[in-house]
Amino acid sequence: MTDIIRKGEKKHILTKQEIITLLADDNLTGELFAAADRMRKQYVGDKVHLRGLIEFSNICRQNCLYCGLRRDNQSIKRYRLKPTKIIELAAKASALGYRTVVLQSGEDDYYTVQRLQDIIGRIKAFDLAVTLSIGEKSEQEYAAYRAAGADRYLLRIETTDPELYSAMHPGVSQANRKRCLADLRRFGYEVGTGCLVGLPGQTIASLADDILFFQEINADMIGIGPFIPNPDTPLAAKCGGTLNLALKVMAIVRLLLPDINIPATTAMETLQPEGRLLALQVGANVVMPNVTEGEYRRLYALYPGKICVNDTPAHCRTCIAGKIAGIGRTIAVDQGFRRAVF
Ligand code: 5AD
Ligand code: SF4
Ligand code: FES
Repeated sequence: MTDIIRKGEKKHILTKQEIITLLADDNLTGELFAAADRMRKQYVGDKVHLRGLIEFSNICRQNCLYCGLRRDNQSIKRYRLKPTKIIELAAKASALGYRTVVLQSGEDDYYTVQRLQDIIGRIKAFDLAVTLSIGEKSEQEYAAYRAAGADRYLLRIETTDPELYSAMHPGVSQANRKRCLADLRRFGYEVGTGCLVGLPGQTIASLADDILFFQEINADMIGIGPFIPNPDTPLAAKCGGTLNLALKVMAIVRLLLPDINIPATTAMETLQPEGRLLALQVGANVVMPNVTEGEYRRLYALYPGKICVNDTPAHCRTCIAGKIAGIGRTIAVDQGFRRAVF
């Protein structure tokens, strides 16, 4: 085994240069993946945590260049679910055995603090952990959702590279994104972040910075996804990220933050059948099956080729359970918070 991987596994510390070497050298991939799988087993075990994903609105005031929900995209039909529908989907997720629901949407101002507080409070009554993934909000808003019972928040930094960040996110600042992450931490959320892999112009050095950033803020969850070009966006003609590089970034994150929750992301499965299972075997310990119903699945079109668009919540639940059992893992029955810090 190379010294770099041994050091990462033992000390959970790597320099930027060492991370770059791991990302650049494909001869080290096999060893890296095996080490990440050992870390996963040792720190978070064989249980896989399922989070039921509710995509409740595809309306977004932001204009991220890579995303199909960006406000300038006029080729998709927009929708927003009524609070009663969101609560009903959460109840169904609970009946299917989920212990966490993730409420995800574009940045949609229809869902005021009051509406969201009500939704969160009602879902908490089902004894579910609630994760929000609804974008950049004010300090007061984050405090209010937390007071209403939200447990976790997902807000990917997407890229730590300041220039690439501004190029990808017109009119918004990376400083505000970081302010959001700091607020979330301060209010006691479990904080999830992550990045896109393979954005146009993104370098391996910048991915190394992303990984070090996750460690610096001691993130509780990290979601890594390959960038998949969306034909309805300005990046339609660009190359996408590869599954291999996304898995490598994820595996290194597992070495540096051994006890965190790491999802096998849907975008990974879009690039390769069984991509999520592969991810679960090289560092991941979480899957987020879709519990949205009907045509909304298809309309929540961040990128093309999204999986499960014609499936039902019940079907996905059975499907993923079978797959997880097939690789000798089991589904956790607890709410799956990050283990106590070692
Ligand atoms: N390819 C892959 N992932 C994407 N996301 C948005 N657009 C794309 C795309 N084209 C991801 C972003 C966001 C998450 C909800 O979806 O990283 O944080
Ligand atoms: Fe909106 Fe999120 Fe898509 Fe950006 S990535 S356009 S904030 S839904
Ligand atoms: Fe949706 Fe397999 S997880 S069909």
